[in-house]
Amino acid sequence: MAKVIVASVGYTRVGDHWDKSILDLAVEASKKALKPYPNIRPEVIIVGNMFSSQSSRQEHLGALLASALNLTRTPAFKVEAACASGGVAFNIAYNKIRSGEVSSALVVGVEKMRDLDTPEASLALSMAESAEYTQFIGASFLSLNAMLARLYSETYNVSRDELSAFPVIAHSNAATAEHAQFRKAISVEDVSRSPLVSDPLRLLDCAPVGDGAAAVLLASDAFDEDDGARVDVLSSKISTNIFSVYERDDMLKFDATRDAASKAFSEAGISVEDVDVLEVHDAFSVTAALSVEAMGFSREGEGAKDAAKGIYALRGRYPALTFGGLKGRGHPVGATGIYQIIELWLQLKGRGNANQVKGCRIGVAQNIGGVDTTSVVSVLARR
Ligand code: COA
Repeated sequence: MAKVIVASVGYTRVGDHWDKSILDLAVEASKKALKPYPNIRPEVIIVGNMFSSQSSRQEHLGALLASALNLTRTPAFKVEAACASGGVAFNIAYNKIRSGEVSSALVVGVEKMRDLDTPEASLALSMAESAEYTQFIGASFLSLNAMLARLYSETYNVSRDELSAFPVIAHSNAATAEHAQFRKAISVEDVSRSPLVSDPLRLLDCAPVGDGAAAVLLASDAFDEDDGARVDVLSSKISTNIFSVYERDDMLKFDATRDAASKAFSEAGISVEDVDVLEVHDAFSVTAALSVEAMGFSREGEGAKDAAKGIYALRGRYPALTFGGLKGRGHPVGATGIYQIIELWLQLKGRGNANQVKGCRIGVAQNIGGVDTTSVVSVLARR
């Protein structure tokens, strides 16, 4: 098996890009990722995107992007796995290089959400749930996660302030992250005073709607990089859960994440204690808590409480959401999994500026689609 490295990255700020099309965003991020290595012509282009047909009346993103980059004849295609589209695209590229099929790949996550108004965006997102049942009764991801938040708080006696800890960490880190959608710190009081969206979730419990594109150039180990701080991909695993959250025996168990993490950690030869930096899928405050529990960073019912104790803060034991996570950096859904890989790359290269986690060597990214219906866990290391 070939070793795989993340050679270079490119990304846009997350937020409102009224003046740019979905293709403009994808091209901008791709060109930035390709620029440092003009001699590498990617052998495959994989685009992670969830709902370009809804937001931009555009499909066929792979060939569209290849053509715009003057890379025709290169195999190019889109993959979709709801909010895990970016993570899944990364996983496929990683495995193609690892198997020896190709020696380089351009992976691009892109989403244009702001051209839809909020109810339209919510409807597009809800297509990640079952059309016949969940969508049919009008449940959105806001209401499904609100149900989880209530159950989580009641089952484990989690207070409002404890639930607010992850959004507070996210915004604190986003305040100094140039590419973040919300560069503004918030307090637990701000969260509990923010407008109620779906009881008990408030505005500041929720990731926002935003546009963005993120790209990584992956290459085989044979590729010779110059600056010495090489970032290797040690593993990447995808797993799936029972499709709809209400069908599961225990709605508070993120079994797809548990399975993907245990396989990814085992293949990388690491344990939880080895992890220095962590990007979790904090689409909602409760999602972050259940994710760190499923991966083994916190015990069951302790995720939000550990966040309130500072364990996941930038200077805590497991620094998480180091550039703001989904809540603060933003969540352009199909691009999110690639932003997470880029943020680990920045950390492992020592290019995190004010957000740098000192001396970090091993980073983990967890990207989910639906309510943990698909989960991708990837492990990166500085060599
Ligand atoms: N966090 C913080 N601030 C937010 C925000 C969020 N999630 N969403 C919007 N805002 C801010 C806006 O910047 C705006 O601020 P301003 O008045 O200073 O300009 C204000 O709140 C109103 O924005 P608006 O776009 O009108 O909000 P909205 O009520 O239409 O949407 C949510 C708010 C929470 C419903 C929307 O962000 C949402 O649907 N989030 C969840 C997305 C999602 O489900 N993703 C997939 C997860 S699986």
